[in-house]
Amino acid sequence: MTQTSPEAIVQEAQAAVAAAADLTALDALRVHYLGKKGVLTEQLKSLGSATPEERKTLGQALNVAKDAISSAIDARHGVLNLSAINARLESERVDVTLAPRHESVGRIHPVTQVIEEITAIFAAQGFSVKQGPEIEDDFHNFSALNIPPEHPARQMHDTFYLVGEEGQPKPVLRTHTSPVQIRTMVAQKPPLRIIAPGSTFRCDSDLTHTPMFHQIEGLVIDKAIHMGHLKGCIIDFVKAFFGVDDVPVRFRSSFFPFTEPSAEVDIGCSREKGELKIGAGKDWLEIMGCGMVHPNVLRNCGIDPDEYQGFAFGLGVERMAMLKYGIPDLRTFFDADIRWLQHYGFAPLDIPALVSAYAK
Ligand code: PHE
Repeated sequence: MTQTSPEAIVQEAQAAVAAAADLTALDALRVHYLGKKGVLTEQLKSLGSATPEERKTLGQALNVAKDAISSAIDARHGVLNLSAINARLESERVDVTLAPRHESVGRIHPVTQVIEEITAIFAAQGFSVKQGPEIEDDFHNFSALNIPPEHPARQMHDTFYLVGEEGQPKPVLRTHTSPVQIRTMVAQKPPLRIIAPGSTFRCDSDLTHTPMFHQIEGLVIDKAIHMGHLKGCIIDFVKAFFGVDDVPVRFRSSFFPFTEPSAEVDIGCSREKGELKIGAGKDWLEIMGCGMVHPNVLRNCGIDPDEYQGFAFGLGVERMAMLKYGIPDLRTFFDADIRWLQHYGFAPLDIPALVSAYAK
């Protein structure tokens, strides 16, 4: 039997391996050369009939050939495998920025939705968003806001106190978002124009109060800011939020230790046959507290009240959501009832764009 030399087999195999177009072709070559009935295996079997001398040299040469062919196959396997993976990645590519084709099952909670809507409106008025901690110290939650210890206003707040250090005022769960005013004024120089959405806590629970609820604080500090700016800002906001152009807005004199003068904002509404409608009508609904930042508060933050003035406001998110979307009961917001969320929740893509909510 005339046999091709091991070197010639290696050469032929290397050329074939280099030309293999895909992993299937490469596997066929492996079987052809190295498989149980492959070219090299057959030659190794034929060694049995060779002389001991031939057996030694040919045996060695065949083993060298086997190693050479398998490493050529391994190398080519690496290359082909990588391009197979790349081809698959290319063909199975998903554009995650595309809109989903199926309405997804999850719902956005009305609190999240309303915070987004309100943020969009104030962002269009040039406000930026600030956040502060939910566990506050006495200074930021009370004393810097012109509420000294023993001040009766502390009783207005049904505060949750935490365990603190001996001899120090106890830390609290913040009772309002107003401490973010203080943190902002201490950290940044005016002019300032911020809103601060977030959770707030009061030890109170009945039909219209939950121990945790959400507020959005607003703060504007600049030179020559007056009550007219406050009124314009709030009236524009109310119109944009409720999408009603002629909604009457009333500023009713009130008291907060951190603003002077202070006011509560009422919007006009009508209640006919149990149906509440925002807009001109006989009734009024209170929606927020506001006022001109008290000079003591500015001083507590290192701002000279003779140079800078400003206004602040604070509104309850759940209340705004109830009024806009006709949700009758506050406590249901936090029942985590999936049927409620399916009914009152929003499709994920309903989150308003910054401009459209304001342009409405
Ligand atoms: N912090 C007040 C409250 O929780 C609301 C408020 C904020 C009033 C800012 C005036 C100015 O009741």
